[in-house]
Amino acid sequence: MSETPIKEVKLPPIRNGTVIDHITCGQALNVMKILKVNYSNIDSSISIGMHVVSTKGDRWKDIIKIEDRELDAKTVDKIALIAPDATISIIRDYYVAEKYQVCLEDHVVGLARCSNPNCITNRGEPVAPEFTVVGRHPPQLRCCYCDRLLTNIPDNLL
Ligand SMILES: Nc1ncnc2c1ncn2[C@@H]1O[C@H](COP(=O)(O)OP(=O)(O)OP(=O)(O)O)[C@@H](O)[C@H]1O
Ligand SMILES: [Mg+2]
Ligand SMILES: [Zn+2]
Repeated sequence: MSETPIKEVKLPPIRNGTVIDHITCGQALNVMKILKVNYSNIDSSISIGMHVVSTKGDRWKDIIKIEDRELDAKTVDKIALIAPDATISIIRDYYVAEKYQVCLEDHVVGLARCSNPNCITNRGEPVAPEFTVVGRHPPQLRCCYCDRLLTNIPDNLL
């Protein structure tokens, strides 16, 4: 038997769809939440690799492959908030037709709610929650209204 270590876990190839690769290790299920997939609204397959060896600098990563779906810009921007190094590859007829990196902007508007219940953005006023990105690895957001650091980004995504 060969002693060669498995370099990278291979998930089954897809004909059409999206690959979200280089997800920060441990965030795959939070990305699944962002995708809002549930068993009543899908009719194709999803493969999830968790804690798989990466051949890039990140060493360990998570990866998701979704058949027959492309992601809208808002979904991709939310993914950047929990997995700032993720890459999005659009697969068409088995080939990578488009590939780009998610982008965590310096300013985040309308993607997450403030974790301070007394913040003006949580008091029924017509004020969109807004944050300044003060850290990137891992992402850290500071509310522009109450100055508080957003605790638990995954649970506060809109
Ligand atoms: N037909 C396919 N079905 C499923 N996944 C695919 C398919 N083609 C490419 N991929 C995946 O899409 C991603 C981007 O493909 P690419 O060929 O750019 O990989 P790569 O060279 O390993 O890139 P990176 O340096 O970002 O890791 C990879 O995760 C790859 O495994
Ligand atoms: Mg790779
Ligand atoms: Zn606030």
